[in-house]
Amino acid sequence: MTDVRYFTGSGHARSIALACAEAVGEAALPLGEPLRENAVLLLIFPVYCERVPPPVAAYLAACGAERAAFVAAYGGMSYGRALYDAQALFRGKVIAAAYVPTEHAYTQDGYPFDAAALKPLFEKVRSGEGTTVLIPKGRRHLFSGAPGLRSRLGVRLVRSSRCSGCGACERVCPMHAMRAGKPNGRCIRCLRCVRACPEEALSFRLSPLLRAYLRRRRKNETRLFL
Ligand SMILES: Cc1cc2nc3c(=O)[nH]c(=O)nc-3n(C[C@H](O)[C@H](O)[C@H](O)COP(=O)(O)O)c2cc1C
Repeated sequence: MTDVRYFTGSGHARSIALACAEAVGEAALPLGEPLRENAVLLLIFPVYCERVPPPVAAYLAACGAERAAFVAAYGGMSYGRALYDAQALFRGKVIAAAYVPTEHAYTQDGYPFDAAALKPLFEKVRSGEGTTVLIPKGRRHLFSGAPGLRSRLGVRLVRSSRCSGCGACERVCPMHAMRAGKPNGRCIRCLRCVRACPEEALSFRLSPLLRAYLRRRRKNETRLFL
């Protein structure tokens, strides 16, 4: 029995979760939906600034699952030690984990997700068996130490006059960081508000430095820990 759960900003991790759910014959649900006793948690989340997004970090520490497998979607730049950190936060046993390359949320480069590459992970999840996997610590980029700052300096949210103040952005924000279309210091630039705005009043701009950095994908490997 598998409980598929996901966290998503701009929707990539959700698409991956749907494909994973189909592969294991279950439904994909967002974080917060109750877990069944004895189910293996299959958790899909994006890598943000080489880290586990804060809502996922909080979930891992509190979810109470005994066994889990993680799929960390990254945008072809670097994944640092996101899975290592996720394993350290989780109180149960991690029986499988994977980094999968996806489209980058900021550049929409059309990079395809390959579900077939995760087949051995799905088999392990379906069997529900296995010992704790060894996830190496990995190296982190200098700027990943301050993800909030990195996001705020690199990505600006722009609110146009089309904003009607409907509050959709406030309702979907996983950090409770939006007020009337404006982000406060808690915003992690996940872009969920941009996707959710019914008036298309929100957009984002990248700093020239981040744009230059994102010009070329650096990594396209799927990395499995079984
Ligand atoms: C705030 C933020 C930080 C990101 N940081 C990284 C990163 O450090 N390395 C990387 O390869 N991709 C990075 N990405 C790209 C995402 O990991 C990738 O696009 C992922 O599929 C997004 O999933 P989502 O749409 O479900 O949020 C970042 C994206 C966002 C929005």
